[in-house]
Amino acid sequence: MKAVSLCVQQDPPIKKSVDYSLLRRLLVFLKPYRLHLVGAILLTLSASALGPLRPFLTRIAVDDHIIKGDLSGLLMFTGLILGLLFLQGLLQYGLSLLMTWIGQRVLLDIRNTLFRHAEGLALRYYDTTPVGRIVTRVTNDVEVLNELFSSGVVLMISDVMVIVWILTFMWNTSHELTLMTIIVLPFLLVASFIFRAKVRTVYDKIRRQVAQMNAFINEFVTGISIVQLFRQERRMQSQFAEINAEHRRLQDQSIMYYATFFPVVEFLSAVSLSIIVWYAAGNIASGLMTIGMLIAFSQFTEMFFRPVRDLTEKYNTLQSSIVASERIFALLDTAQRVDDAPNATPFSGLQHGVEFKNVDFSYDGTIPVLRNVSFSVTKGQTIALVGATGSGKSSIINVLSRFYEYQGGDVLIDGHSIRSIRQDDVRSKIAIVLQDVFLFSRSVADNIGLDRDGITRADIERAATALGADAFIRKLPHGYDTNVRERGAVLSVGQKQLISFCRALVTDPDILILDEATSNIDTESEQIIERSISTLLEGRTSIVVAHRLSTIQRADAIVVLHHGEIAEMGTHQELLAKGGVYAKLHALQFAAAS
Ligand SMILES: Nc1ncnc2c1ncn2[C@@H]1O[C@H](COP(=O)(O)OP(=O)(O)O)[C@@H](O)[C@H]1O
Ligand SMILES: [Mg+2]
Repeated sequence: MKAVSLCVQQDPPIKKSVDYSLLRRLLVFLKPYRLHLVGAILLTLSASALGPLRPFLTRIAVDDHIIKGDLSGLLMFTGLILGLLFLQGLLQYGLSLLMTWIGQRVLLDIRNTLFRHAEGLALRYYDTTPVGRIVTRVTNDVEVLNELFSSGVVLMISDVMVIVWILTFMWNTSHELTLMTIIVLPFLLVASFIFRAKVRTVYDKIRRQVAQMNAFINEFVTGISIVQLFRQERRMQSQFAEINAEHRRLQDQSIMYYATFFPVVEFLSAVSLSIIVWYAAGNIASGLMTIGMLIAFSQFTEMFFRPVRDLTEKYNTLQSSIVASERIFALLDTAQRVDDAPNATPFSGLQHGVEFKNVDFSYDGTIPVLRNVSFSVTKGQTIALVGATGSGKSSIINVLSRFYEYQGGDVLIDGHSIRSIRQDDVRSKIAIVLQDVFLFSRSVADNIGLDRDGITRADIERAATALGADAFIRKLPHGYDTNVRERGAVLSVGQKQLISFCRALVTDPDILILDEATSNIDTESEQIIERSISTLLEGRTSIVVAHRLSTIQRADAIVVLHHGEIAEMGTHQELLAKGGVYAKLHALQFAAAS
């Protein structure tokens, strides 16, 4: 486990220039819903066209009817304005429903795509990427995109349309008044420019802060036992408080920007209105302007500033969406996979054996971990891998399981390179029991069967009985249907190991790979486990990282690893007689016990 610390890797800060080509890639996700999108745009256009009609009608109502005392047509106008408002509301209602509908579907598609991609990534990627970051990618970043789809783009179109319409109506009503209204526009542009820049920076910081918080909490939960054992609570608390305080400070900052910007817009809009009123004061008297025009323009002004303000805000949404999509696509573009060769052949079962031939391997491509490793296992044989911690035993298993790509030599199954055999086929014939048992938060039976084809409840119980696990499983509250809870909290280490053995045995695999756990467990469980291991290995082609003397002695051959190289090979007796590395290891590890 990684050290519990504050040095959680951070996402790099956003670039100054935003890459709009990402939007094009996002459009691909919108493609299945293009008809809905066209519908939404049509709705937007109609809704935005209706807005400016209201001041327009108001002016006619005031000038031609109210002022002239001709109340006959007034009722119709009032009805018309009411109808207009109702229709506008209806269109907006339909629009939000439609946009949310599209947004949620696109989101679902993106999340599924991301998840599918992440599942196939090589372990190398996970070695170097904090879990919190992947979680943030699939949850938060996709959520940010939601805003883009459900409110952003379409409403931006609508805002622009509203502005264009209002300007047209204003211009047709009065050229001078239109110019008066937009006199403050340059100030507004400057204000929104400053606001945008500020908010963008602070939002990016907030986003990275959230990612850091996720990563911190993740590490904390994973290491909770260490935190409690070593009484790190206080330290963790203060670190968390620190991250949290920084988060609050940034949020305060963003609120401050909004709190300043919105009143500035209001103020400018008020200035605009005063200019109109001031202008009207002189001109209504002289008959150059009507009261209706004054009322219409005060409505226009209000209508004009709202979309301008909203556009500024949505521009921020657009930018954070682009940043989010940048990160999402970066994950989707991660090509760290262990792929099948295009002409990979199927594999239906082991005929002869497995061979490592001069294998060179390194995790990161620089530090060698395995050097010139060669050994072979004939069908039905058991090979034990023995060596000090860090000598490369688990790495041999990693290479054979194709978790990592090896650099030199070859690994052969029945004489064919494992690179030329379909991974899926190989994995269905090989059973691997790793050192750390991982249980899903599902029932015991599910954890053994894992929904694999052709495995029945009877198979599961048979495997458990053969391995001596049946007795304890039946004693669990719901027997085989007991949920093991998250990360197997209700089971002992030995019991978890037995379940993982059952998981391997239930498919009756051709090849068994076992990384024996080093953890010491009580003598009774130890005996059950020893017996289960011998049942597992019985007549099966196996490669076992062995720590138990019983497993080692039973092996047909022992491969002794030393600093990533094979130091010696032979049977237990041969190697003891030789007095080399194995004899020393044996003396250190078992002399006291035997
Ligand atoms: N995921 C990994 N990334 C980089 N180096 C690793 C990784 N896993 C193991 N190593 C390194 O590879 C070497 C061999 O490790 P390993 O095969 O796990 O040893 P063993 O199982 O014999 O104890 C060690 O030096 C270890 O630090
Ligand atoms: Mg190991």
